[in-house]
Amino acid sequence: MASTAPPLILGSMRFGDWGARLAPAEVARLLAAALDLGIDTLDLADIYGGHTTNALVGAALRHDPSLRARLHLLAKVGIVMPESPGNGRRVQHYDLSPAHLEAALAASLRDLGVGRVDTLMLHRFDPGLDVDAVAGWLAVHRERDTVRDFGVSNFPAAALPLFTGKLAPSSHQIELSPAASQALDDGTHAASRATGAEVQAWSPLGGGALLADNDRGRALDAIAGDFGLDRASLLLRWVASLPATRVVLGTTRTDRLVEAVRAVETPLPADAWYAVWQAARGRPVP
Ligand SMILES: NC(=O)c1ccc[n+]([C@@H]2O[C@H](COP(=O)([O-])OP(=O)(O)OC[C@H]3O[C@@H](n4cnc5c(N)ncnc54)[C@H](OP(=O)(O)O)[C@@H]3O)[C@@H](O)[C@H]2O)c1
Repeated sequence: MASTAPPLILGSMRFGDWGARLAPAEVARLLAAALDLGIDTLDLADIYGGHTTNALVGAALRHDPSLRARLHLLAKVGIVMPESPGNGRRVQHYDLSPAHLEAALAASLRDLGVGRVDTLMLHRFDPGLDVDAVAGWLAVHRERDTVRDFGVSNFPAAALPLFTGKLAPSSHQIELSPAASQALDDGTHAASRATGAEVQAWSPLGGGALLADNDRGRALDAIAGDFGLDRASLLLRWVASLPATRVVLGTTRTDRLVEAVRAVETPLPADAWYAVWQAARGRPVP
């Protein structure tokens, strides 16, 4: 067990039908390996795998019943996909109404086979969001201990003050890699920190696209070599070097979890951090 928890979260998006199609026993082994490395937070969403991945994780938790008590389950809800159950018009949309949250939480608890999610996260900003209504709904679930913590994901910086004085998100999950760094340019990362929320960076490797063999990749490899790292580790170190930020890993492989822990042990010096950003953007910062 690591003495200090690494700033890492394990993502489940690619465990099942949207990726590696792991068996429950394989998911259980991956979760056990993550826990042994000090990675205790598991990122989930009701839509992953077309509403099948939570049930896969539930099967893994039944396969190894010792896992649940050690894991912090972070469950995202609020996206309705065209094929989601009950979506009559078949258009993708976001629904943060208490009625939808209630149904989505119930489905998540059922599929995971648990009585509580440790963090309930709103997956996308819905312009119709009624913060007072969400706060009231959440208070009931906190009282029942079906939900403990609360977070948001993919919210524009300008929407965060809607929560002021009403409900404090403890985390904000946003897309963030050196190539997808809009959250740095538009102030979303800073605005999240300013509220006291932890930033959680999803797709730190651009979903794997940043590992392609091209000019940009070769420029990143040259910097990685200076630190004795491979490119993936350099990218993870770049994200983890940001203050108040944890990296949401997308890997389904235990060996890459081990590499990730090593990658985020130390931050990049500022000049190298900017060199990575410039190489991935393909242009200097202004
Ligand atoms: N809040 C949101 O809206 C949102 C959106 C998207 C994702 N997420 C969360 O963020 C998590 C991470 O996102 P992501 O999966 O896009 O992350 P990512 O880390 O950018 O990409 C993961 C992909 O890269 C591959 N990969 C990792 N290391 C590699 C290496 N060294 N060499 C070659 N391939 C490598 C992985 O394959 P292997 O499995 O083979 O390692 C996997 O297919 C998701 O699981 C999900 O929980 C949240």
